[in-house]
Amino acid sequence: MEATTIVLFGATGDLAKRKIYPALYNLFVDGKLPEPFSVFGLGRREWSDAKLQENVEQSILTFSRRKPEDTDKLQAFLSAFRYSVLDVDREEDYKKLLDMVESREEELGIPQNRLFYLSVGPEYFKTIAYNIKSSGLGTTKGWKRLVIEKPFGHDLASARDLNEKLSAAFTEDEIFRIDHYLGKPVVQKMEMLQHANPVLQAFWTNRYIANVQITANETVGVEERAGYYDKSGAIRDMFQNHMLQLLMMLAIHLPSDSGPGDVRARKKEVVEALVPVQAGNIASQVVRGQYAEGSINGKPVAGYTSEPGIAADSRNDTFVAARLEIDNYFWRGVPIYIRTGKRLKEKSTRIVIEFKEPLKSAASKESGIAPNLLVFEMAPNESITLQLNTRDPGGSGEFKPMNVDLHTHRDNTAEAYENLIHDAFRGDATFFAHWDEVERSWQWVEPILNAFANNEVPLRLYEAGSYGPKESDELLAGDGFHWWFDD
Ligand code: BG6
Repeated sequence: MEATTIVLFGATGDLAKRKIYPALYNLFVDGKLPEPFSVFGLGRREWSDAKLQENVEQSILTFSRRKPEDTDKLQAFLSAFRYSVLDVDREEDYKKLLDMVESREEELGIPQNRLFYLSVGPEYFKTIAYNIKSSGLGTTKGWKRLVIEKPFGHDLASARDLNEKLSAAFTEDEIFRIDHYLGKPVVQKMEMLQHANPVLQAFWTNRYIANVQITANETVGVEERAGYYDKSGAIRDMFQNHMLQLLMMLAIHLPSDSGPGDVRARKKEVVEALVPVQAGNIASQVVRGQYAEGSINGKPVAGYTSEPGIAADSRNDTFVAARLEIDNYFWRGVPIYIRTGKRLKEKSTRIVIEFKEPLKSAASKESGIAPNLLVFEMAPNESITLQLNTRDPGGSGEFKPMNVDLHTHRDNTAEAYENLIHDAFRGDATFFAHWDEVERSWQWVEPILNAFANNEVPLRLYEAGSYGPKESDELLAGDGFHWWFDD
């Protein structure tokens, strides 16, 4: 990997502390960082190099999956960090930064490969991209890349505007839009599993699949993010990005001779084939919920509108469930159910493919035979299992489900951010969201955003600690299904 300079906007922020520094450290220990690498941390606070290094060390001690054992190694890592005060609006600060970056590149004798990482609020994205270009920071003799965190826009129009502004400074190939769900190890295995197993691939169609269920339930509430979350809701915070990305990853079919660029091209086809929700029909396909007070793990918790910073009359969605269809050769007629919400009974992130009933005879129903399931679980545990039926080995003659384990989780494996940052260094954008996917996802959710804003979809209150509003169950019951694994 070629030597690289990371220019990190938001170096004093929470994401850098919790995710980015630990990920860089683990990559360093694994020998997966460019050699040499250098980091310029930027922020408004008057920090020194030493202060940044102290904070990076603290973040590793607190959040890294690996704790430093070798002090020399840790010091070598920390010594790559420099700090510079930067006001995102002030041109001179970028010029000063350019001088510093150039002299460091010279000092290390490395090419001008620059990875600009925007770990800041979305209100700063455009200004920073503009200034990177106008200051000359983006005019390099090596390569340049932009890694950008969510949210990518607030709706279709703002996403398009943002993309246009970024495109003035970076080409699409240079933009790496992070969706951390794409970095999750189980998600990264999805396409390979199908690709490498003709048996699974053969069954990955509407001929055999009864329905697909994608769940991302959380126990946490709004936490300290009232300002952001109350304007976003579950639909923008989770559904438009993470949930639709999971759907795309699951639904792609790759030809056997496919190359690295094909994953994204196929994902685009999937999202394009999503049947649009019809304006008058949204309330029958989409459930909008908000948590009321209740209890989680035996502990009483407040309702959403009593949370600090949330207005008592807020109608923001903290839960969304929807029924979708993909109108293409493979998926036509297969209902796809998606749900995500906060303050639910348990943290669980999973995709379940339910296969059609193997035997239709009354006898088979009586014997309690269960449908086959292929389950991708990302939380609370990581696993991929195929649930088959077998006869009880004890000899009772009853059918019992049997799980075939398709993914062995090893402790201490790379986390989402490590995978993604490593890919960004290598210039591999497979697991980053392409603009086409982002634009079409916004296009698909736009009628829902409007319907929520105009109160055309009833807001269902649900008790904290439940599985969400009962209308979410009814969405499946109407088709003769139920959410798997809710107890
Ligand atoms: C983030 C959302 O993108 O994803 C949060 O902004 C959410 O609201 C988080 O809690 C969930 O991520 P994970 O990896 O814990 O499922």
